[in-house]
Amino acid sequence: MSASSDVRKELARLRREIEHHNRRYHTLDDPEISDAQFDALFDRLLALEAEHPELVTRDSPSQRVGGAPATAFAAVTHAQPMLSLDKCTTEAELTAWEARCQSRLDTESPMRYACEPKIDGVAVNITYERGELVRAATRGDGQTGEDVTANVRTITDVPSRLRGRKLPPLIEVRGEIYIPIAGFAKFNADAVARGDKPMVNPRNGAAGSLRQLDHRITAARPLRMFGYGVGRIDGDWQPSTQTQTSEALEGWGIRVNPKRKTVVGAMQCLRYAESLLSERASLDYEIDGVVIKVDERAQQEALGTITRRPRWAIAYKYPAEEATTVLLDVEFQVGRTGAITPVARLEPVFVGGVTVSNATLHNMDEIRRLDLRIGDRVLVHRAGDVIPKVAKVVPGPRGTREIALPKVCPVCGAEIFQTDEEAIARCSAGLDCPAQRKEALKHFASRLAMDIEGLGDKLIDALVENGHVQSAADLYGLDAATLAELPRMGEKSAANVVAAIEASKSTTLARFIYALGIREVGEATAAALATHFGSLDHVLDASIEGLLEVPDVGPIVAEHIHTFCAQSANRDVIAALQQAGVTWPAIEVRSKGAAPLAGQTWVLTGTLESMSRSDAKARLIALGAKVAGSVSAKTTQVVAGPGAGSKLTQAQALGIAVMDEAELLAALQRLESNPV
Ligand code: IVH
Repeated sequence: MSASSDVRKELARLRREIEHHNRRYHTLDDPEISDAQFDALFDRLLALEAEHPELVTRDSPSQRVGGAPATAFAAVTHAQPMLSLDKCTTEAELTAWEARCQSRLDTESPMRYACEPKIDGVAVNITYERGELVRAATRGDGQTGEDVTANVRTITDVPSRLRGRKLPPLIEVRGEIYIPIAGFAKFNADAVARGDKPMVNPRNGAAGSLRQLDHRITAARPLRMFGYGVGRIDGDWQPSTQTQTSEALEGWGIRVNPKRKTVVGAMQCLRYAESLLSERASLDYEIDGVVIKVDERAQQEALGTITRRPRWAIAYKYPAEEATTVLLDVEFQVGRTGAITPVARLEPVFVGGVTVSNATLHNMDEIRRLDLRIGDRVLVHRAGDVIPKVAKVVPGPRGTREIALPKVCPVCGAEIFQTDEEAIARCSAGLDCPAQRKEALKHFASRLAMDIEGLGDKLIDALVENGHVQSAADLYGLDAATLAELPRMGEKSAANVVAAIEASKSTTLARFIYALGIREVGEATAAALATHFGSLDHVLDASIEGLLEVPDVGPIVAEHIHTFCAQSANRDVIAALQQAGVTWPAIEVRSKGAAPLAGQTWVLTGTLESMSRSDAKARLIALGAKVAGSVSAKTTQVVAGPGAGSKLTQAQALGIAVMDEAELLAALQRLESNPV
């Protein structure tokens, strides 16, 4: 048998598989395999075709981009084809690409590149005639896409009219439509609560949202867009660099990525890619790499295009954030408040730059919704620092073992209960359950609570297992000799822990309330309780009605606080802690309406590192401030974290006071412990 008959067979199989996955991805928005796996198939096809150019067929997926257009939308032929990108993942590949560009251009001089984040969304082509949006289409197969004009019109980032006077008579604007991570999370939480199917990932969500037949559905989705290029431009004006293209787009009112940067040489591209990678987790959108484009238009033209891929641009790809693997088992963990959480044990898989072998499954409803069985092949998603998640079961041979909630607590054997209101089952033993006790102590000692340095998870596990500590109050009776006998503890570290425990005795009321670990009482609510009531006794004796007066406290939280305070075991621990010497500075109770930030309007912008924006907001509200979404002349104070954009510029223009996160923290702490 000739070698080429094997090659022919493999090529046919690869093309069939790729066609199949292309359809799942582009036409059905329901991929079965991860991008990385798809890329591997495609790479193999390209490699084989490169070795055997005589076997390249005109209908090979390598000669087309994406899937065949679906039929529900009218077909639109792009005035200029929408290209795809070659990719690389290593420094060597990137420098080799640069060398190829230089050799083709017959130059040794350093080349300039326009770099920008490669957004993981859906490409669109938006045609403006004399500045008016006339058509918007998906990429489709690169030549012909689907008419999604009505849907794209609902996206606020997409202007229906371009700004400016000297507009080209016709211009195709290219951009990426995406769903921000926060919007994705909220959409999915709402969908699950309604009993609807959540989105598998933000990119699929964006694709699905764009391909709704009813544009009102699209309008309700949190879609955004970054413009990144142009197709056909009629008229006299043509950009001479990619950098100029981005600037022109911005000038016309198209949102372009503020993180874009023009650099010289492949090494600077790499540095850009690395620095962006370190920010990946804090971006509000998913990126799968960096797009690097030769900046000079003249050089782009000289380099040209080969089978739908420009030679003048390349995607430098980051580790994939999705991968498929096998669900080996499901174990049940017991949390601080007794919540029994199923955790997926996975065949280790490399995803998002790390090897993942566990993923959260939230609760039994989630398992039912995913229709999971042990042995299933699953798609795992890990974006940024977020805990890995099982996104869906991959179609194919199914696992066999059903997953059942245990009848009793897997740690203490007590009964498990579940109320109608909750999706979560809980262990009924409370602090008698060693798992709950350990978690409660870990929370008590944590940084935002009593902040006991050196009292880590392992040490707490050992203290509970050896019977040295039952409740938080017992921590204050520990001596260095007892600690020194525990595994991995020396005399020095034992002494340090005792000193840290001692130091934690002087705290604030807000921290102390938070440390108690009352259900649903996070730091912001704890701070609000402290500021509102001024003393622990007032919190302990508060009625439900009294609790409901606290900003940020609703009926459910009020009920949790009330129940906690009514339990004598909890009161005993609190008394013992105070007996042991835990204290805080007294807070003067302020009269109603005299909240320290009453009458002020604050605006938060950019990212905060030590707390979430919603916590910061809640704490400011607790102090009487209004927190607004936009800057105006009425704004009192702007808090700007890294990545702050137009709100910061506006504040500066209006001469409004701006502080950074460290200053915000200092102000919150000062006002919360002494609000008058
Ligand atoms: S430029 C000739 N810039 O990546 C250059 N593409 O595989 C064509 N994408 O279909 C693309 N962010 O959907 C470019 N900043 C960016 C991008 C970007 C995401 C997508 C786009 C394109 C695909 C190329």
